[in-house]
Amino acid sequence: MLLNNFLAELEKQGSENDAKVTERKEKFLNITRDTGEFLAVLVKATKAHDILEIGTSNGYSTLWLANSLPETGNVTTVEALPHKIAMAKRNFATANLAHKISLIESNAVDFFQQLKQQFDIIFLDADRSQYMLFAAEVIAALKPGGLLIIDNAVSHESELANFIEHIKSQSIFTTALVPVGKGEFLAYKQA
Ligand SMILES: C[S@@+](CC[C@H](N)C(=O)[O-])C[C@H]1O[C@@H](n2cnc3c(N)ncnc32)[C@H](O)[C@@H]1O
Repeated sequence: MLLNNFLAELEKQGSENDAKVTERKEKFLNITRDTGEFLAVLVKATKAHDILEIGTSNGYSTLWLANSLPETGNVTTVEALPHKIAMAKRNFATANLAHKISLIESNAVDFFQQLKQQFDIIFLDADRSQYMLFAAEVIAALKPGGLLIIDNAVSHESELANFIEHIKSQSIFTTALVPVGKGEFLAYKQA
């Protein structure tokens, strides 16, 4: 199946699922298609090779990221819930992109404790109340010249206020708020 058709199928599944289920952990909460397109441009324009995503869900955003990478590139994506890991794994295989994706079943807090690698792009789309817990690790895990992208910066502005202020207060970052999808906050780390 063409990737574009599969992404459209996942968008339909996502909106139907999220309208039907009531428990938050059962919702997919995918990025919007225009956010996916925006991420694709950022990945290609920055010539990113290694990406870290926190918050996989069923893997919709991961597919946008992985598809935009060169063949040797990799997205490490972290998800805490086993049933979402299982869905994401199936979706990565269906999209023929599993070879570019390292799917990690972990809480982000634990993941950052043992992380040694640095990334060209870090995309945060998980439990926003935890971001301050691993702020130092996120900053350290971003390569000089790397890009931090935070979803929901408009839709959940107040929940992200402390974290975004923390990033903006550091002179190593050049930042912008982009009103695409649910609002993407971008922070470029000085090279
Ligand atoms: C908004 S959804 C991610 C949507 C996905 N990025 C997409 O657009 O397709 C957030 C996901 O992050 C996961 N999550 C939330 N907090 C987490 C944490 N601290 N560690 C790992 N996963 C987490 C949730 O289980 C949920 O599946």
